[in-house]
Amino acid sequence: MVVKLALPALFATVVLSAQPSAPSPKAAPVRELPWAGLNFLHTTDTHGWLGGHLQESSYSADWGDYISFAKHLKDRADDEGVDLVVVDTGDRIEGNGLYDASEPKGKYIFDIFKQQTIDVICSGNHELYQRNSSENELNHTIPNFKGNYLASNLDIRNPETGKFEPLAPRFKKFTTKNKGIRILAFGFLFNFAGNANNTIVTHVEDAVKQKWFQESIRSKDIDMILVIGHASVRSQEFAHIFKTIRSVNWDIPIQFFGGHAHVRDYKKFDENSFALASGRYMETIGFQSIDGFSGGGKSEVAPQAKLSFSRRYIDNNLFSLHHHSGKNSTNFATEHGKNVTKMITKAREELKLDRRHGCAPKTLWVNRAPYPANNSIFSWLEKRVLPVELSTSARAAEGKKALVITNTGALRFDIFEGPFTRDSTYLVSPFTSGFRYVSDVAYSDAKKVLQLLNNEGRILEVASAGNLDASLLAPPEQWSGRLRLSNEASVDNHVHHDSLQAPLGRKDDKPARTPGYTTVDDAGNDGDDTIHSQINFYDVPNCVQATLGFDEDSEADKPKEVDLVYNEFVQPWILLALRYLGEEYNVTDTKPYMEGRSLTSVITDWITEHWASDAEVCSTED
Ligand SMILES: *[C@@H]1O[C@H](CO)[C@@H](O)[C@H](O)[C@H]1NC(C)=O
Ligand SMILES: *[C@@H]1O[C@H](CO)[C@@H](O)[C@H](O)[C@H]1NC(C)=O
Ligand SMILES: *[C@@H]1O[C@H](CO)[C@@H](O)[C@H](O)[C@H]1NC(C)=O
Ligand SMILES: *[C@@H]1O[C@H](CO)[C@@H](O)[C@H](O)[C@H]1NC(C)=O
Ligand SMILES: *[C@@H]1O[C@H](CO)[C@@H](O)[C@H](O)[C@H]1NC(C)=O
Ligand SMILES: *[C@@H]1O[C@H](CO)[C@@H](O)[C@H](O)[C@H]1NC(C)=O
Ligand SMILES: *[C@@H]1O[C@H](CO)[C@@H](O)[C@H](O)[C@H]1NC(C)=O
Repeated sequence: MVVKLALPALFATVVLSAQPSAPSPKAAPVRELPWAGLNFLHTTDTHGWLGGHLQESSYSADWGDYISFAKHLKDRADDEGVDLVVVDTGDRIEGNGLYDASEPKGKYIFDIFKQQTIDVICSGNHELYQRNSSENELNHTIPNFKGNYLASNLDIRNPETGKFEPLAPRFKKFTTKNKGIRILAFGFLFNFAGNANNTIVTHVEDAVKQKWFQESIRSKDIDMILVIGHASVRSQEFAHIFKTIRSVNWDIPIQFFGGHAHVRDYKKFDENSFALASGRYMETIGFQSIDGFSGGGKSEVAPQAKLSFSRRYIDNNLFSLHHHSGKNSTNFATEHGKNVTKMITKAREELKLDRRHGCAPKTLWVNRAPYPANNSIFSWLEKRVLPVELSTSARAAEGKKALVITNTGALRFDIFEGPFTRDSTYLVSPFTSGFRYVSDVAYSDAKKVLQLLNNEGRILEVASAGNLDASLLAPPEQWSGRLRLSNEASVDNHVHHDSLQAPLGRKDDKPARTPGYTTVDDAGNDGDDTIHSQINFYDVPNCVQATLGFDEDSEADKPKEVDLVYNEFVQPWILLALRYLGEEYNVTDTKPYMEGRSLTSVITDWITEHWASDAEVCSTED
């Protein structure tokens, strides 16, 4: 396909809408949308970021802008007699103050989210960690998207009857508005096991054997199958669904939409089946199109001309959204979109999300700095934050020395130089779980635990009969495997270039190419709408460790026994590692380390103590 590049005449962009404090996007070379007979917009893993990114201009459009954008595309589809279908694949909650800062959590988000018309929607794993958040799906999101929410392998205990029932319909059939394409749609979740006991996730391998699935895929009155799911597009779950459908229908078009791995990705199953993953945190609006449908509907089985599948990853900023909708700052925002932008602004104000805890003196990266390094968020955590904050525990006050282990996946986002706000807290560390410990472990064994969790993760996986994969302790962008390279040389020093995916820093913007996503997927390297320069991306270990009360490097200082402290999430791996080392502890031997304090509060307290500033504006100039 020939890629047309749109080069803006003006670099200075005046763009209105988005949140008031959002930075203006920079003009950049843009690839056009591969608009066709059937088009899709896709969001996934939004994790509450409906306000957009307020410190990164590349992703600074908000949910109201997305609503305006979808409206313009829908109007275009109607004008041209083609179709647009809007999809979301879950993990809408946890990870942004707009969700997490309210009491109860999610007080504002459901009403904001539902303003977008979404044709097919499903649950992620985050919706299911707690009983009350899955009930919120039942009480809010499902009625808000009535008929469009699908739960192909998910049941919930009805809070009123106490009985398990499907969370939502298993599948639906619908016909597109303009071309009359008849679609059979499913909404799956990967084989998630960490859910609260009021939901049941049926393994995909079992769900596809069920009668309703087997019957539906044999339907004669459909032109294509749409599988949306909260699963990596390269997951065994999607592969299994594909195989099962193909075993009964050798060529029906199958379009998958996935997520969970927080990456941009596009997988080709065969000539008539592709899967799109659209990133994370409202950075990306995925665009997918299928061209060549003859129309469908009228004949029993529409004769399929050769179809062509295309994808585009849209950077979620107003420059891109104006461009792709053919609008500008005067005519882009619809009244509805503006209303939603205002709803978000108001919620952010009520939640005091802009309240400043301090000024970050420099940017600390999750995956854009090597580890260890001065600008690694993990080095900062283990050297500066944990030793100070955990030394106030009762155990440390008694003089008990400790090793403190936390998984790197517990920190979800970078800290940017500049204001660190109440909102930033939830972006960086949305998890509410606390620290626990095993007391008085022989130091000679305790010090080997970290190594087992990191370099020798496979040992633990084997020791747990495959149940505990330690690589899952690292950030999702990393365990998804999409950051790996074919270029072996780069893998050696853990720097990834080609298939590199990393978000754009707000400070290095230049008029032409800005650093940002440079995705390589099964269709090549032309998926990103914005042509970016490449960013280096580094592997980090699964876990990092701080020492409390002694100096690891000093022979004289070494304790005989230590408390082994960890964030709660890692507990199963810690106990397994100890057992592997011959230290038999079980859950009943563990205790809370600092009741009432979580990794989130530890980080916030440290920042308030060390980065506080009375200056009106953080000085962020280099
Ligand atoms: C959801 O609604 C049911 C029925 O009204 C109620 O029993 C339950 O407590 C609600 N759940 C939450 C989390 O509000
Ligand atoms: C669920 O319950 C916990 C504990 O009571 C509470 O902190 C949290 O805000 C609740 N979450 C939701 C979504 O209601
Ligand atoms: C489900 O979990 C809750 C809270 O952890 C617990 O109180 C309850 O007994 C469990 N129910 C079942 C049926 O296991
Ligand atoms: C936006 O486009 C409309 C219609 O083409 C035009 O009238 C208007 O002047 C444009 N506004 C700006 C700021 O370019
Ligand atoms: C937008 O908000 C205004 C004022 O609240 C209301 O009158 C109007 O109906 C809303 N429009 C849309 C399209 O939501
Ligand atoms: C990290 O910071 C320390 C102390 O400020 C400095 O001595 C050291 O050179 C820095 N290291 C790097 C790699 O910048
Ligand atoms: C854990 O230890 C307690 C107390 O020693 C014991 O009763 C329990 O059976 C143990 N549990 C497991 C799973 O080993």
